[in-house]
Amino acid sequence: MLILGVESSCDETGLALYDTEQGLLSHALHSQVAMHAEYGGVVPELASRDHIRRVLPLTERVLLDAEKTLQDIDAIAYTQGPGLSGALLVGTSFAASLAFSLGIPTIQVHHLEGHLLAPLLEDNPPAFPFVALLVSGGHSQLMRVDGVGEYQLLGDTLDDAAGEAFDKTAKLLGLGYPGGPALAKLAEQSAANSGRSSSPDRLFKLPRPLLNSGDLNFSFSGLKTAVLSLANKHQPLDEATKADIAWEFQEAITEVLSIKCMTALRQTGLDSLVVSGGVGANTKLREKLNAATKAKLCKVSYPRLEFCTDNGAMIAFAGAMRFKAKQVENDYGFSVRPRWDLADLQQP
Ligand code: KG4
Ligand code: ZN
Repeated sequence: MLILGVESSCDETGLALYDTEQGLLSHALHSQVAMHAEYGGVVPELASRDHIRRVLPLTERVLLDAEKTLQDIDAIAYTQGPGLSGALLVGTSFAASLAFSLGIPTIQVHHLEGHLLAPLLEDNPPAFPFVALLVSGGHSQLMRVDGVGEYQLLGDTLDDAAGEAFDKTAKLLGLGYPGGPALAKLAEQSAANSGRSSSPDRLFKLPRPLLNSGDLNFSFSGLKTAVLSLANKHQPLDEATKADIAWEFQEAITEVLSIKCMTALRQTGLDSLVVSGGVGANTKLREKLNAATKAKLCKVSYPRLEFCTDNGAMIAFAGAMRFKAKQVENDYGFSVRPRWDLADLQQP
C-alpha cells in the first residue's frame, strides 16, 4: 500500500511517499524559515499562502523521486491538527480533493502522533512499549507508549514548552528565529571561546525548574525570566556574555529534560526511551540522554535530524499505521482541528 503524507500545520510544507512493504520511498520539504525570519516568528497568513504555492510542486517531486504516478497512491494521510488553522486547511483541502479525484481514502493524522512515531522510520526501530519524550515548539510531554494510539501521558509542561523556551530566550538575547538552533550554536561558541569544548570560562547559574518535584511535569517560563534578569545585570551585553548565558540556559533545560526522562524510565520499569520533536535535534540534549541511558543499560532512539522537526515522512508513516488498522475516511468532507489533545486520540 502506498501512502502520500501531507504536512502543513505550521511553517513547513512536507510531502512523502511511504510504502507499507518497502518503507519510506521519498520525501520533500519546503521550510518557510527564511520568509518568517524578518518578522521574528511565524506569520500565519503568510504561512498559509506559502503552503498553497508549495504543495503541488512538492507532490510532483516525491512522485518523481519514487518513480510513481498519482494512480499508484492507495491513500492520502494529512495533518488534521493541531496547528495553525489556515495552514492546516491548505494541506487538508488539498489531500481531500486529490483523494476525491483519485477515488481513494484519506487518513486524518494527529501532528504529535506523527512526531511520536517518527523514530520508527529508522533502521532498527524501537519496539513497543517505550517512554517517549516529545519536545517541540508547542509541547513538552513524557508519555508511555504501548502501541499506535496507546499513549498514556506521564508528564507535561505547566507553562512554556521546551522549544518555546528556547525561542523566547533566543529572542531575549537578540538572536534570530527560529531560536532553538541559533541559541544552541551560540552556546557552542561559549565553550569555544574558552578553548575547551566541554565548558566555558565563566559559569553562570540558572535554576533547574521542578527538578526535584517528584513528578514528571516541566515548567520553563521561570527559566526565561531568570535569563532576563541575568541579562539585565550584565548590560550592555557583549557577545561573550551572551554566549555564556546561552550555554547555561541550554545546560539547565537539557539537564531537567534528561533527568525527568530517566525518572520516567524508572517509574514505568521500561528500558527504552524515544525522543522526538524539534528540540530532539539538540546536540547537548542527545549527549546527556546518551550518557544517562548508557549508564542505566537503557536504549535511546531518535529520528534522523531532518525528521525531528516537521516533515511529511512522519505523517505518511503515522497514516500508514492507521491505514493498516483500517482507520480511514471516505466521504471527503474535511475539517481541521487546530486544538487537539493527543489524549483524545483513539486507538486504531
Ligand atoms: O517539532 P517542531 O519542528 O515544530 C513543532 O511542532 O513545534 O519544533 C520546532 C521547535 C522550535 O521551538 C525550535 O526552536 C526547536 O524546535 N528546535 C531546537 C533545535 N532545533 C529546533 N531547539 C533546540 N535545539 C535545536 N537544535
Ligand atoms: Zn511539529
